[in-house]
Amino acid sequence: MVHKFNPANKKKLDDPWRRENLPPIPTLEKLGLISGDTMADLGCGIGYFTIPAAEIVRESYKVFALDTSEEMLAEVEKRAVLAGLSNVVTVKTEEYDLMLPNESVSFALMVNVLHEIENKEKFLQEAHRLLKSTGKIAVVDWEKKLTEFGPPIDHRISIDEVRDMLERIGYKLIKDMQLAEVFYGLVAVKK
Ligand SMILES: C[S@@+](CC[C@H](N)C(=O)[O-])C[C@H]1O[C@@H](n2cnc3c(N)ncnc32)[C@H](O)[C@@H]1O
Repeated sequence: MVHKFNPANKKKLDDPWRRENLPPIPTLEKLGLISGDTMADLGCGIGYFTIPAAEIVRESYKVFALDTSEEMLAEVEKRAVLAGLSNVVTVKTEEYDLMLPNESVSFALMVNVLHEIENKEKFLQEAHRLLKSTGKIAVVDWEKKLTEFGPPIDHRISIDEVRDMLERIGYKLIKDMQLAEVFYGLVAVKK
């Protein structure tokens, strides 16, 4: 059984702890997002990473903000207007249907989303479909260990499990990293 983030707690997605431990621009840069990428933020929440990503890729490249929650997407739209960005496109998705065409993005981002998905392999397969050849996926999630904050340990997925899944699906791992002691990051390229 997985636990879904409650949109009523959306303030937790942008607070001083997160700004300190998972600062959006440095994190995106570490994961390898660059100007000229077209990005999909899978499970974008309030757009904590979407908005800075839209600044990094630059105006003529799009960032698709994908989420199953209308409430989250409404928040992303507000934040994009406030930031004066015209390259953020919100998309309401279904659990295993990301709605974008095949091979439409060069970078897919998933931060603290994979542990919320029941059939993780099916979801990563769907993400694979969206990526252009040589496109990258970056998965950031909670370490499977006891921490002060975050989901219960039995709802988490370890870095080794994610690595194995990505390889089985047809991604090649290119980078792994630890972020703020409580998160790991994996970057893989579509083979
Ligand atoms: C913990 S929040 C993380 C939000 C954002 N990635 C961040 O780091 O700020 C998880 C988000 O994933 C979304 N989500 C859960 N399952 C999803 C799915 N199958 N497809 C798309 N979004 C999903 C939830 O609605 C929620 O907004």
